[in-house]
Amino acid sequence: MAQPIQQCVIPAAGLGTRFLPATKALPKELLPVGNRPAIQWGVEEAAAAGASEMVIVLSEGKELIRDHFAPSPALEELLRARGKETQLEAVRSVSSLAQFTYTYQDQPLGLGHAVLCAREHVRKDPFFCLLPDDVSYGAAPVLAQLGEAFQRFGTTVLALMRVSEEQISRYGSVAVAETVGKYHRVTGVVEKPAVKDAPSLLAIMGRYVLLPDIFDHLAHQAPGAGGEIQLTDGIGKMLGTGDIWGVEFDGELLDVGTLEGWYATLFRLAPAYAPKALEMAQSVQ
Ligand code: G1P
Repeated sequence: MAQPIQQCVIPAAGLGTRFLPATKALPKELLPVGNRPAIQWGVEEAAAAGASEMVIVLSEGKELIRDHFAPSPALEELLRARGKETQLEAVRSVSSLAQFTYTYQDQPLGLGHAVLCAREHVRKDPFFCLLPDDVSYGAAPVLAQLGEAFQRFGTTVLALMRVSEEQISRYGSVAVAETVGKYHRVTGVVEKPAVKDAPSLLAIMGRYVLLPDIFDHLAHQAPGAGGEIQLTDGIGKMLGTGDIWGVEFDGELLDVGTLEGWYATLFRLAPAYAPKALEMAQSVQ
């Protein structure tokens, strides 16, 4: 059996232009989704999948993300003194979710480049990669399902979701050769294809198990779609030396990386997290 995966790389260097002006000073990863910032959902998902170390890739000006995951002794002391045990626990649990390591991407050269920036902090073992633009929702966290697939196949693993013809050009698309239940063996990848060039309507979602060899490919990767160094292209090179499996996962990934998706996610989560909210919204005419 493969060793359990311990590290998770979380790219959080993007500019968040879709949410301006909200993200003028606030990193988009700290926009609240219910009572916690978007990126905390991702860290909790990675911790639930067994990762004990998060390697977060930042860009300049996004230090508030570090502050969020750092211990807050003064705030904790104040909450303790006031007997606010629930809030104290909520604050304390954030910094104890995992061990946090930070690294910086100096230029916005693409997702593949952002992942490459984590190289010096990743041990020579397989690792998770999670894009915090989606929140895992449903019975089993999506990253944990990828971890199970890794235990079974021991290869690079991608999260896959079937999308419509209109949507596929927003994602990486995969060619598949063999299907075993929810698992597909991937034989090709294309980043953001025009619908006529998409090998299938199975889209790569932002959850991965990557093998350390990916860094060599990313270091030599020429810019691809959008003029950026694409993680998908680096993953394609991995097909030269081994198999890749995809998981058409159970449950959902809720988009919090676009304004529409963010609102829709709040509506979806409201019944579970703030049951009176929808009623209140409907009563205001
Ligand atoms: C990235 C990946 C793409 C993937 C998508 C999932 O694209 O490059 O392959 O399908 O995430 O959200 P981005 O959304 O950063 O443009």
